[in-house]
Amino acid sequence: MQIIKLNATDSTNAHLKKMLVGQTLDDFTVVVASEQTNGRGQIGTNWTSEAGKNLTFSILKKMNGFAVDHQFLLNICVSLAVFNTLKAIHIPDLSIKWPNDILSGSSKVCGILIENTLAGNQIQASVIGIGLNVNQTNFTNLPNATSIKLLLGRSFDLDELLNMVLTNLEKIFISLEKGGNNTLWTAYENVLFRKNKPSTFQNGAGDYFMGFITGVSEMGKLLVTLEDDVLKEFNLKEVKLLY
Ligand code: BTN
Repeated sequence: MQIIKLNATDSTNAHLKKMLVGQTLDDFTVVVASEQTNGRGQIGTNWTSEAGKNLTFSILKKMNGFAVDHQFLLNICVSLAVFNTLKAIHIPDLSIKWPNDILSGSSKVCGILIENTLAGNQIQASVIGIGLNVNQTNFTNLPNATSIKLLLGRSFDLDELLNMVLTNLEKIFISLEKGGNNTLWTAYENVLFRKNKPSTFQNGAGDYFMGFITGVSEMGKLLVTLEDDVLKEFNLKEVKLLY
């Protein structure tokens, strides 16, 4: 494992992807930056993080032709690795909000952005971006965000937490390689935010509807039973689960 530490970059995901062009990098090369000037979130959003306060980093995981149809397993592995790390430091009321936000109660403490390089229907490499709110305490304009410091009342060493996440990630990838798909899937579904609870969603047209999350399909779509008992599958662009 090689860890590259930067004071600032546009986005650690973009930085690692650029490094991948024209050179061979070791599996588990990590890029961590104290500051991102153009941090990226899911579905084209921004990821903002106060300089020097939090962990913003990306990991290269070589996937050697892992079937693209199984790509949701990567989301499961990464979110469980962060979940297990936060559990180990006693963050209360943890859950994973589909597909891969880590929440304490209904506040988001970590966001994950996974970008895959494909060759046909196989994943060659995955750039796994993790934004973990550690010591930031002011989240003006981000009403759903929180940090470890706000939750536990003390500051944490960023390197120590980074090592914990990386160790947990390596462990989970070993179980994945050993074929632990079902166990990982079950572990993920067991901690899914609002599973089997009446929940409010918003569709692409902005309309609200009620339903119960029952799990995640093999292709990573959210499975929701609507009020009339009809089971529907949604992808990220089609539905927003309200906090
Ligand atoms: C989300 O919840 O929308 C995903 C946020 C992912 C943020 C991390 S920070 C490190 C890495 N580099 C980026 O530009 N984004 C990810």
